[in-house]
Amino acid sequence: MARVLSGIRSTGKLHLGNYLGAVTNFVKMQHEHDCYFFIADYHSLTTHPTPENLHNNVRQVLVEYLAAGMDPEAATIYVQSDVPEIPELYLLLNMNAYLGELERTTSFKEKARKQPENVNSGLLTYPVLMAADILIHQATHVPVGKDQEQNLEMARKFAKRFNRMYKTDLFRIPKAFNFDNELVKVPGLDGSGKMGKSEGNGLYLSDTEKQLRKKVMKAKTDAGPTEPNSPVSEPIQNLFTIMNLVSEPDVLQSFKDDYANCNIRYGDLKKQLSEDINKQVAPVRDRIEAIENDDEYLRKVVKMGREKARESASKTLSEVRKIIGFRAF
Ligand code: TRP
Repeated sequence: MARVLSGIRSTGKLHLGNYLGAVTNFVKMQHEHDCYFFIADYHSLTTHPTPENLHNNVRQVLVEYLAAGMDPEAATIYVQSDVPEIPELYLLLNMNAYLGELERTTSFKEKARKQPENVNSGLLTYPVLMAADILIHQATHVPVGKDQEQNLEMARKFAKRFNRMYKTDLFRIPKAFNFDNELVKVPGLDGSGKMGKSEGNGLYLSDTEKQLRKKVMKAKTDAGPTEPNSPVSEPIQNLFTIMNLVSEPDVLQSFKDDYANCNIRYGDLKKQLSEDINKQVAPVRDRIEAIENDDEYLRKVVKMGREKARESASKTLSEVRKIIGFRAF
């Protein structure tokens, strides 16, 4: 069985694009594979969160993923900093990670450009920590979007290098779980491009019905079709694309027909769309609220995850230590 592992950035709340895309895939995968999902809070230290933000971000991400359907019984769901075997493996892998190759990674160069006042060595060795995350559980597959492909390639390189140096086959070489191809892509409502946190166009799972409606009613449109069957502009196509994901097929069809006949009223389209988005979001929002207030449940989930993760991690780490040459007196 495939062992699938993914780290989740501990920044920001989930939007509809995350939910219908990656998160829905995780929820499906957890029943098909041996899945490890963790919140990458050590990685988040590279941007220096305050102590309050550090904890609250982890908590929020955990709450929202659970609310979205991640099941701690089906998958191993844990917080990275709860597993001390990860930083230990990171330390060991760092001894065979070279300055030149780390400096050349695109994500490092980009980060160094974005935060020139804070080019810390955690940023430089970000791919090493990520390799430790993956290798500590002997993951076979890592779902990666485009932006993480190079980091996975580095993990493969470090694993192979270790195996070669110590003449062992301890580390399995993780493969990409190609995930971007089949991912549902949700556009933003501002005319072009995808929905994203940094784009500032997110419809969030924690948004109230009113907030959602307000955002949808403000969506970019155009002057409307002037003759039958005129081509659909990008902003309108985006509304149709989202409608295709959240509304009944006949509802979408009738708006498309209205467009083709030049009868469309964008106000009606948006009103329908915001109701249908809310229908999708409402149950998740309710669960977010319930879980958010259930400290006992969260404690239980985190503890269970920590125990399962440490059991697997300590097996790998003790092999690694033995191979490197640490011996008991
Ligand atoms: N770097 C990943 C991101 O920014 C998060 C991450 C950390 C990760 N460790 C990982 C992803 C291990 C996959 C495997 O999204």
